[in-house]
Amino acid sequence: MPFAPPEKIVTIGEGQTILQQSSAVARYCGIDDGRLFLQYEGLNPSGSFKDNGMTAAVTHANMVGATQAACASTGNTSASLAIFGSCTNWLEVIVFVGSGKIAYGKLSQALDYGAKTIQLLGDFDDAMQRVREVCAQAGIYLCNSLNPFRLEGQKAIIYRVLESLAWEPPDWIVVPGGNLGNCSAFGKALLELKDLGLIDRIPRLAVINAAGANTLHELYEQKGLRWNGGRPDVAVRDDYFGEMESAGRRAATLASAIEINRPVSLSKALRALDACDGVVREVSDQAILDGKAQVGAGGFGCEPASGASVAGAKLLREEGVIAPSDRVVCILTGHQLKDPNVTVAYHSGDADDFDRLLRARGVQEAAHANQPVVVENDLEKILEVVARFD
Ligand code: F0G
Repeated sequence: MPFAPPEKIVTIGEGQTILQQSSAVARYCGIDDGRLFLQYEGLNPSGSFKDNGMTAAVTHANMVGATQAACASTGNTSASLAIFGSCTNWLEVIVFVGSGKIAYGKLSQALDYGAKTIQLLGDFDDAMQRVREVCAQAGIYLCNSLNPFRLEGQKAIIYRVLESLAWEPPDWIVVPGGNLGNCSAFGKALLELKDLGLIDRIPRLAVINAAGANTLHELYEQKGLRWNGGRPDVAVRDDYFGEMESAGRRAATLASAIEINRPVSLSKALRALDACDGVVREVSDQAILDGKAQVGAGGFGCEPASGASVAGAKLLREEGVIAPSDRVVCILTGHQLKDPNVTVAYHSGDADDFDRLLRARGVQEAAHANQPVVVENDLEKILEVVARFD
């Protein structure tokens, strides 16, 4: 039964995304042909998976009569909330983003869709803290994934994956981890589907952090923090955050969508990992960009953070955790056009751009670059270039 009366439901056509088998990406990861699938959540109206949850949150905002909604964002949540705001005539949207911390495509969306945009002189973790304070004090409806309706909506990604696989669960679902809402929603969806008897087994979940924003990896894989039946050892978490604070350590990755050190859904993510016999890995920005380039060359493409799924699947395969014959679904969370600066810097061969945008962040080479060729406006010379293409 729908949780909202039909006249309150706010939808913008989200959820029309697809699962695509990719032989090229399978080969790159060392997985048998026909066994690797890419779930393109970038095909949602705002270009990321966030629309799946935002439809539920904005519907709930409508039910409670909210007229203002806000979120902190690394760019996609803000783009999603902004498009929902622009498609309704009753919701004013305020977004908090870290100044200089979000990709241009995403900033352009918030601005174009008319969201009031606060560029905080800080990063996502600062923005997240402030938006909670502001929403509590000013009575504004909060649309971050702390909002349980967001996570309920994001369960739909799992429903679509399973529907595309004729309800035969894959062996692995691999997803990038940032604020950890998505993996939390996945765990909840899978537990519920199992309880309902709609699937007979729960796939394993792999959550992939960027190495420069690796809180979950550190806590889960290094410090052994576990769900522990709903009683995680919070001292382990608090010590970790305390140490991070005193060292002044900030999240830093080219995959700006997941540049987060204090994930708000940490506990729920532990529950999901527990339910799904999960693993967490960290991957370098180099591996993320190489993975992203493979998705571009062997599929529809994706934004940097989504490349972490492919980099993570490759790593787990190399470790022998994923077997060559396993059926693996990589969730591609955002659209290829979200972060053109990073993509062009990777491919173009422009040394200045490469040094400024990529090398400065630890990327050594663009191993899978597809360099454009500059040629004079002369037919002979153009033909010479074309003849050299194989
Ligand atoms: N991939 C993309 C493209 C994202 O935008 C995000 C999160 C994630 C992965 C990680 O998902 O937070 O549920 O673990 N972006 C948020 C935002 C934080 O503000 O757009 P998560």
